[in-house]
Amino acid sequence: MRDASDRLAANLAGLARTGRARTRRVVEAREPGGVHVRVAGRDRLAFCSNDYLGLADHPVVVDEFCRAARTWGAGSGASHLVSGHTAEHHALEEELAERVGRPRALLFSTGYMANLAIGATFVGRGDCVFEDRLNHASLLDAGLASGARFARYAHADVDALRRRLERRRPGCAALVMSDGVFSMDGTVAPLRELAAASQAAGAELCIDDAHGFGVLGANGAGCVAAAGLGTDEVPLLMCTLGKAVGTFGAFVAGPAVHIENLLQRARTYIYTTALPPAVAAATRASLRVMRDEPWRREKVLQHARRFRVEAGRLGLPLMPSDTPIQPLVLGSEAAATAASAALFDRGFWVPAIRPPTVPAGASRLRFTFSAAHGDDDVDRLLDALSSLAQQGLLAGAQGP
Ligand SMILES: Cc1ncc(COP(=O)(O)O)c(C=O)c1O
Repeated sequence: MRDASDRLAANLAGLARTGRARTRRVVEAREPGGVHVRVAGRDRLAFCSNDYLGLADHPVVVDEFCRAARTWGAGSGASHLVSGHTAEHHALEEELAERVGRPRALLFSTGYMANLAIGATFVGRGDCVFEDRLNHASLLDAGLASGARFARYAHADVDALRRRLERRRPGCAALVMSDGVFSMDGTVAPLRELAAASQAAGAELCIDDAHGFGVLGANGAGCVAAAGLGTDEVPLLMCTLGKAVGTFGAFVAGPAVHIENLLQRARTYIYTTALPPAVAAATRASLRVMRDEPWRREKVLQHARRFRVEAGRLGLPLMPSDTPIQPLVLGSEAAATAASAALFDRGFWVPAIRPPTVPAGASRLRFTFSAAHGDDDVDRLLDALSSLAQQGLLAGAQGP
């Protein structure tokens, strides 16, 4: 017992020593829109939420959530395959499939579980899975847990992927998995090239559009639709509902036979409680708002564009991102943490992202924008960054 406690204490000491220990801040209150928050009794302007469209507390979404909770109760009471699959879930699946232009969609309780399901269902022992080196942890875990031979290719390097696909054993089934929008960089994967390489090699392609769904493409259908790719090119599309949609959960969309395989075989679908029906109902309302209020997409992307231009004027080399995720790489854990703390002192909440979430030496500030931000919010952030730059706190900023 003592041995185990010593080992665990040493783990924590190691994290603290390397500047990688994480802490949680308790959000005590949030104003409508969710970007003005109270933390430790102080008001802060947050640039760290994934609620890109400001829909999490949209009155229509919240009213629908409350109505459905009064109708259905607070929980679903069972897994989908027992008795937890309500009319709200079923209608939501049909609406999601239609939104992303795919034959069928299946709801999952989280994106993490959806990705694990894809890995476990479409490859196994004797098969191969290929992943971008910078994929989200849930995709990497999905590949590792699948039991297939797991290989990572250099970030966005489709030639490297092609070589790996060509070298695989003849007849070996292959799955290629990639973030659509890379969550810590904000950049979009080379989707057309990935699709062409996968198709040419007879591999299935899965794109995780957690950060593109709702924001990119017509009606917010996501980065795959924006690239003009359909089900044939990208058979497996995973999107989350806890980010731009503002609710919770995830779905996988694709051909009927793929989706039925997930439903019949994926353990992270079968052996877990279905989302509360009220979450499904709120999500349906959110999809309608997304369609009826396109200004939200335009506004968040406009904030990101203006921030890039003004940050450029301050000499800050942001990563080449056209999405609401705008990172500034500072290098060491200490540099990123110090800049984040200095911003917090000035009233802004911008997280420091450190390894293992990003590669060693690429710690960064990760700014995320929302349609709920005002132009003046962005101006205030830029003023604060200008003052940090003058104090040398952003001196380590590295270009892309
Ligand atoms: C790219 C990506 N995929 C998957 C997930 C997991 O989704 P969820 O939060 O619904 O588990 C996230 C973030 O949480 C993500 O950024």
